Amino acid sequence: MSDISEVIQKNRAWAAEMVARDPDFFGRLARQQAPEYLWIGCADSRVPANEIAGMLPGELFVHRNVANVVVHSDLNCLSVMQYAVDVLKVKHIIVTGHYNCGGIIAALRNQSFGLIDNWLRHVQDVYHLHREEIDALEGESRQVARLCEMNVLEQVINVCRTTVVQNAWQAGQQLSVHGWVYDVKDGLVHSLIDPISDAGNARDLHLRGVKNVRRGVA
Ligand code: CO
Repeated sequence: MSDISEVIQKNRAWAAEMVARDPDFFGRLARQQAPEYLWIGCADSRVPANEIAGMLPGELFVHRNVANVVVHSDLNCLSVMQYAVDVLKVKHIIVTGHYNCGGIIAALRNQSFGLIDNWLRHVQDVYHLHREEIDALEGESRQVARLCEMNVLEQVINVCRTTVVQNAWQAGQQLSVHGWVYDVKDGLVHSLIDPISDAGNARDLHLRGVKNVRRGVA
């Protein structure tokens, strides 16, 4: 698509199609949003949150960045989480990584792409935490896949450690944190860990770490 006006045309066609299916669709959305899910995923163009989850606008609150990283001091991600949990009262936070993630590959290969190298240091930290297991795997594609999975685990732990989630659990709010990985080859998501629904669960996950992270691919 070289002409930007085509994007506007596609928008018009999409909006018309939505109204044809459901005349009050945008009217309802304009009145309020009440999503039950917060999706934290990669910015990769192959990983569009709503499409993958089979959800319509209004059903999913979304935060995306390169390699789906949750950094303790990232005001952007923390603000999205705080608004989603405190105001929208989402019931689930889903951290979704994906195989063949360019950010994960660059981190593992220690490649240089400019400013983003600094962001990917967070993924390199995950690699160093799980280096023994990852290095023992044969072939780069397996190592990349496992780092994608371990990155999800570590970001789930980071989500659980935020004041946002800790305070919600302390207040008795219903909130589960999930770790998924998406396979760009077949469009399927796989759950890597059991849902975490309280601070005790979260501490267990942190302590058991690697052992209870399933593999999404063989
Ligand atoms: Co990615």
